[in-house]
Amino acid sequence: MPAHSNPFVGRQGEMGVLQRALAEAGVGPSRTVLVQGEPGTGKTALVGSFLAANPAVRSVWVSGAADEVTVQYAVVDQLRRATGRPPARVDAIAAAVELVDIVDALPAPVAVLVIDDLQWVDPDSRRALLYLLRRLPRRGALVVCTAPPDVEQLLGRSWARVFTAPDRSCRLHLDGLDAGEVRQLAAHRGRRLGRSAARRLREHTDGNPLHVSALLEELTGEALNDPTRPLPAPRAYAARVLARVALLTPEARALVNAASIFGTHAPLRAVLAIAGPGVTAPALDEVVAHRLLADEVRAGMRELSFPRALTRAAVYHGLSASRRCSLHAAAARSALAVPAAPCPFVHLCRDGAAPCALAEVRPDDTGRQPLTERERSVVSLVRRGLTNREIAAALFVSTKTVEYHVHNVFEKLGLHTRRELWWLWDQDGRAPEMAQTATNGTSQAAD
Ligand SMILES: Nc1ncnc2c1ncn2[C@@H]1O[C@H](COP(=O)(O)OP(=O)(O)O)[C@@H](O)[C@H]1O
Ligand SMILES: [Mg+2]
Repeated sequence: MPAHSNPFVGRQGEMGVLQRALAEAGVGPSRTVLVQGEPGTGKTALVGSFLAANPAVRSVWVSGAADEVTVQYAVVDQLRRATGRPPARVDAIAAAVELVDIVDALPAPVAVLVIDDLQWVDPDSRRALLYLLRRLPRRGALVVCTAPPDVEQLLGRSWARVFTAPDRSCRLHLDGLDAGEVRQLAAHRGRRLGRSAARRLREHTDGNPLHVSALLEELTGEALNDPTRPLPAPRAYAARVLARVALLTPEARALVNAASIFGTHAPLRAVLAIAGPGVTAPALDEVVAHRLLADEVRAGMRELSFPRALTRAAVYHGLSASRRCSLHAAAARSALAVPAAPCPFVHLCRDGAAPCALAEVRPDDTGRQPLTERERSVVSLVRRGLTNREIAAALFVSTKTVEYHVHNVFEKLGLHTRRELWWLWDQDGRAPEMAQTATNGTSQAAD
């Protein structure tokens, strides 16, 4: 049995279900519980914690392993060894019969058999286990299996019948932790998270304890608690997503990259507007087939959506700073081109714009020069809604000089209007000056 995570947070309801099943198996018919959840949701940790809470109960733990799926009777062998039987060659009948013997011989009044990661149990062992589950002793055995949500497709109907037998079986579906539990988990790991930071982290990871734990380890307290800094995906997760993206054709890759600029969901039309030439239906089919994006109609609008916020974050943070910046700028420009005002994509263009911080645009990324100290000061005043004349007064320079700096900033960043500048850098969503000047259009750029 693997060491259970210590300390373990939440899951009181699920623990209660397992405790009841254990109590009932002691007095009534033997029982089966199937614990299902996405990888990392804490299935193994839950069952480990349940056994740790019942130290007097005899338990036997076996697990499927991805790299042993093709090893015949690998899990039967684990079970034999775990119960002290000598290694032996087994065939289908012998294995099945022996498993029944093993479980029958477990001590009364109740014993627990855990089959962790059922999806990776080799097919021969799986057949023997199915035989066993259909012949559990009349009482005294609790079998707990863990598996991902879509395991039924792999297992077929006979297993489905075992897990739906009335009065003898139940299923537990593990969702992510809630924000309070994420906060608790952080505290146990020695990290202080504010309430809203915990909510943000929960939303970003769907409360998946594996991803929450990874980000708690990889990010600084500042990065976790500052709402203006977009959260990345955990490194290992991001590497897997980027490896999948790298396998796509250039057009499909361009589509995924463009979609990441807008957030988890984006109107298809907006994504296509910035994805570049050649990004057409085949690219869309490809990304959908690779399950990197879903193509759905929502409220009458065709939308692309990433399966998870983490998938989007992996793609978004995988872009070079210059690529991110130019895609943001293209998104802002295409938003300007949409006739209806206020533009429905404005918040999307602003979203996650922080990594486009001026400092990150390096000459080696773009061929453009980075902004000078003076240009940065001008940008920050432009963002506060000051006119060139007001900026000139604030910096004790002439209006002509300010115009010169503004022109250079626009050149370097590939922007055309002051509004694009606001949309790129306005992190907190407040842009009253933008509302006032929005009607003045591009003439503002040369103000
Ligand atoms: N409720 C929990 N409290 C604290 N840590 C948890 C909890 N659930 C899972 N974890 C931790 O998250 C990680 C992933 O959990 P694990 O049980 O391996 O997921 P799964 O078996 O569903 O893939 C492990 O490091 C585990 O210790
Ligand atoms: Mg597990």
